[in-house]
Amino acid sequence: MAKRNDAGGDGPPVPDLIPDRPSLKTVRDAARDCQACDLYKRGTQTVFGEGPRRAEVMMVGEQPGDAEDLAGHPFVGPAGKLLDRALVEAGIDRAVVYVTNVVKHFKWEPRGKRRIHAKPNGAEIAACRPWLETEIALVKPRVVVLLGATAAQALLGRGFKVSQQRGMFVPSPIAPRVTATVHPSSILRAPDDESRRAEMKRFVADLKRVAAELGKPGAK
Ligand code: URA
Repeated sequence: MAKRNDAGGDGPPVPDLIPDRPSLKTVRDAARDCQACDLYKRGTQTVFGEGPRRAEVMMVGEQPGDAEDLAGHPFVGPAGKLLDRALVEAGIDRAVVYVTNVVKHFKWEPRGKRRIHAKPNGAEIAACRPWLETEIALVKPRVVVLLGATAAQALLGRGFKVSQQRGMFVPSPIAPRVTATVHPSSILRAPDDESRRAEMKRFVADLKRVAAELGKPGAK
């Protein structure tokens, strides 16, 4: 089939795949066959977001990693385990969190026998974005937490600097409260135990601000 969009995909663009009057289940089912960019050729499967239909918090990462690609679930690998630990430390109940990614297929390059994470490009992010927008529209989270620069810049603009603006709540039409922090995998990449502990502490401090926000009365 001829290429139908700028992201090199072979299938129709995502808006054509989103069902009329979508629910999380019908959207997730539709995303399974997505070929809107060429990442579907590299990934094992679409990894869609997961969590309660009315989650108070949505956490948005970059893309599934190796473990997520194989399992078909977001944030189940090493970064997800670190995120789970940080949520416990911050006092956020995992049961109120919906986790998802800006890009729903694993982009990787071979290195020996390993599959090494590769950053999605702007066209791939743009092609996938309507899935995320639909998730946000359906879940209507009170707080959105963007994990890492790819997610933060995709939703808050290229000028957003996680290093300078992490932990702050910034105005955005996507949710009543929106904040960004580092990606948990950056903590795993810290050069030594001491810096890993320090980075984890800062990450938990950012999440504690989210916990404080959830403690405030607010319509849901
Ligand atoms: N990193 C992400 O950004 N998302 C995942 O689901 C796993 C690792």
